[in-house]
Parts: sequence; structure tokens; C-alpha cells
Amino acid sequence: MRIDILTVLPKLLESPFGDSILKRAREKGLVEIGIHNIRDYATGKHKSVDDYAFGGGAGMVMMVEPLAAAIEDLKSKRKYDEVIYMSPDGEMLDQKMANQYSLKKNLLILCGHYKGVDERIRQHFITKEISIGNYVLSGGELAAAVFCDAVIRLLPGVLNDETSALSDSFQDDLLAPPVYTRPAVFRGMKVPDILLSGNTPEVEQWRHDEAVKRTKEKRPGLMKKDE
Ligand code: ADE
Repeated sequence: MRIDILTVLPKLLESPFGDSILKRAREKGLVEIGIHNIRDYATGKHKSVDDYAFGGGAGMVMMVEPLAAAIEDLKSKRKYDEVIYMSPDGEMLDQKMANQYSLKKNLLILCGHYKGVDERIRQHFITKEISIGNYVLSGGELAAAVFCDAVIRLLPGVLNDETSALSDSFQDDLLAPPVYTRPAVFRGMKVPDILLSGNTPEVEQWRHDEAVKRTKEKRPGLMKKDE
């Protein structure tokens, strides 16, 4: 899989892709990430990427020319399954969407800033808008990092067996069960006996029961109708 990201703040994306699981996924060649500075496509003396909104009002708007030039340049090099704009207006990201996007080959993500991008970019180039929640971030970079993390960790080989994405919360519309590690007793609080029993089928049954209990308590809306 390859993901290209267009941003005015490339440094903001260095750390999420330069650490831990995403770093390893890149090193193993399981995902290629291209981070592109929109300013490199700006022309004119000041290399501006934003301008005042027609009609007035507070806030700058990301200009159509540098964005169009950037998107067209990247599209001339490969065919993208989707051109995504990270925006609070978009479809809300969930696990099902992350699963679907993990099957794609090439994605192009545009991170917005200021008051948003010139509407003509959305009309002519964007094929999907994705939101990570009902709140407004200062820009799309952190949202893009969240989206990419949720997708990339699902690619085969990114996680090892013990941390397999199949046992994640949400993967079967259930939250994850409680987990414990040593010591077996901490300030009088004991780890459930079943987890120390070595009886794998019973441990699995306990985990499932706890996952159902936790989901009913904390996120009843997630449960499938037949559960
Ligand atoms: N950009 C600003 N806010 C956002 C959000 N909630 N989701 C995705 N992109 C955004």
C-alpha cells in the first residue's frame, strides 16, 4: 500500500510515521508513505498557499492553484483509489471503514488548514471526505495520522500474532476484555483466577464473556442486534 499526504505542515507528520508500529511497517516495506509540502507547488514571490475568502469574513482559505498543481502532479505518477480530504464534514471514521481502506493500493490524503480549502478542490478532485470526530482540529494532519494508523496496523505482517488486529476492540463490535500482567496480586487486588489456570478454552470463554459485559456496560450501542 502507498499513502501520499499533502500538507502545509510536513513536520507535524514526522513523528507519527517515524515511531513504533508505523515506522516498522515502513521499514518492512509493507507501506510507503509520501509526505508532500503543498508550499512546494506554490508560485509567486511569496509562495502563498492561502488567501482571504471572497465575500469577506474571518479566516483564510487554501488556494486552488497550488492544491490543484500538487494533486495533478501526484496523480500523474500513480492511480489513486481515493483522493481523501480530512474534514469534520466527512464520513465518520470507524473500524469498518479502516478495514475497507486497508484493502486499497494507493491513497492520496489532503490535509486542510485555516478555514478550509477552496470549494472547487472539493468538487473536482476529492473523492471522499473523512472525519475523525465531531470536533474541529486546527488542521487535517492529526486526523490523517489517526486515519493512517487505524488502516496501516491492519495490513498483513504489520502486527505480530500476539497483537493481531483481529483481537482488537471493535473488530467484532465488542470492546476488548480486561487484561493483566505481573504481579498476580497488587495491593490486595488479585488477577482473576481463571487467567492463572492455564485452561485456554476457559480463558477464551471468560474473555468473550467479559468483552460482552464490558460492551453492554460502556458502549451498548456497539452491540450487534443478535448478541
Ligand atoms: N480537520 C479538522 N477537524 C477535523 C476532524 N474532526 N476530522 C478530520 N479532519 C479534520
